[in-house]
Amino acid sequence: MHIGDILNDKCVDTIVSVRGWVYRSRESGRLIFTVIRDSTGIVQVVVEKGVVSSEEFELAKRATIESSIEVEGKCSKEPKAVTGYEIHATKIRIYQIAENFPITKDKSDEFLLDIRHLWLRSREMTAIMKMRDTILDSIRDFMREKDYHEVDPPMFVGGMVEGGSTLFEVPYFGEKAYLTQSSQFYLEAFMFSLESVYTISPSFRAEKSRTRRHVTEFSHYEAEAAWVQNQQMMDLEEELIVFIAQRLLSSNKEELEVVKRDLNKVKAIEKPFYRYRYEKVIDIGRQKGLQLSDMADLGEKEERAITEDFDKPMFVYNFPTQLKPFYHRQDPEDPSHVLNHDLLAPEGYGEVIGGGERIWDKDELISRMKSDNLNPEDYQWYVDLRSYGSVPHSGFGLGVDRLLTWLAGLDHINKAIPFPRTIRRLKP
Ligand code: 4AD
Ligand code: MG
Repeated sequence: MHIGDILNDKCVDTIVSVRGWVYRSRESGRLIFTVIRDSTGIVQVVVEKGVVSSEEFELAKRATIESSIEVEGKCSKEPKAVTGYEIHATKIRIYQIAENFPITKDKSDEFLLDIRHLWLRSREMTAIMKMRDTILDSIRDFMREKDYHEVDPPMFVGGMVEGGSTLFEVPYFGEKAYLTQSSQFYLEAFMFSLESVYTISPSFRAEKSRTRRHVTEFSHYEAEAAWVQNQQMMDLEEELIVFIAQRLLSSNKEELEVVKRDLNKVKAIEKPFYRYRYEKVIDIGRQKGLQLSDMADLGEKEERAITEDFDKPMFVYNFPTQLKPFYHRQDPEDPSHVLNHDLLAPEGYGEVIGGGERIWDKDELISRMKSDNLNPEDYQWYVDLRSYGSVPHSGFGLGVDRLLTWLAGLDHINKAIPFPRTIRRLKP
């Protein structure tokens, strides 16, 4: 039985059994008060000399923080106990007496990253991982409802998607392989069979920038659908983000409180989101005092300033063609711009989604590759997709870790990822 199951009046006067880890413990004469935690919560256990055997009492006394323990006893209501109920132990079993646990109060963020394999047990990380689970689950529920199929693209790939500067190269039996930067091209291939597809897979970027939102391995939720246009894709994303935020509010109120999230900020995520053309957003940035050229690329700093006092997410659409990778479809009425979008989260969080329409005409694709100094032969299979019944289509990529960072109100992406990978961190 789990601790979460017994924290209610139904448990009173029944014999319960829980197992978990010692959260804290103090001795007071004939009594030991041991708080135990499991994945669902914490509860106080009272160990009384004479009620348990003297051997058991001695063991309970020696049970240090994080020792693994199983307890049987009678449950009662106890307003003074940490979660309102307590267990009066009749049987105790210790699985292992823990060594001196290295995490004490007020450790630095850096130390907690070094010891992440143990810090995962904290209330904060447990709450964050539960919210992550909710997000993944709600993505799958949402996509199923919309008739999208989940697919598995490869992670070892032969070419780049998002530009050469962030490619991770790995030796591959005498050849060069790369870790995928995005599964988009593979999703496009799946689309010709399944029409609407998505994946939640890792993407890798050799990011040298040390920002609060860049890691080298991130969880990438990408979707691709035939016959869909840029603005329609934005409609879907808007509905999706609201769906996830609502699910988080209904399933994880307690966890949001653990990380001290202002719930009103999550409740404010409602349709419609703002939708501005790129130029309008450049204007907003200038009004906020940013020095922006007409073709400025928006980085972390700029997006932070722009979105700082927004209450809702903002779509920025139709970027200048030259700012974006070759696969984006140009607006037929204005080829200097592409039919794409980014979704910027409010409160300074900035980009969480990038997406848009893809070039579906073969000649157009080849000519855009050439003007980007790419060799179409390196992308032979991707070009080939346009040779057999090509269709208009759109897609997007959402950074799951960034989404969680924003929804949970965390100050760094590292806190949203169990084992974050950055330029300086490969362990634990
Ligand atoms: O904007 P990006 O680079 O777009 C693509 O990769 C497209 N091929 C996606 C697609 O259309 N299928 O990345 C998409 C999202 C970003 O908006 C961001 O949320 C996340 O992926 N992302 C990162 N998250 C954490 N660390 C990084 N280094 C990230 N790079 C991108
Ligand atoms: Mg982007």
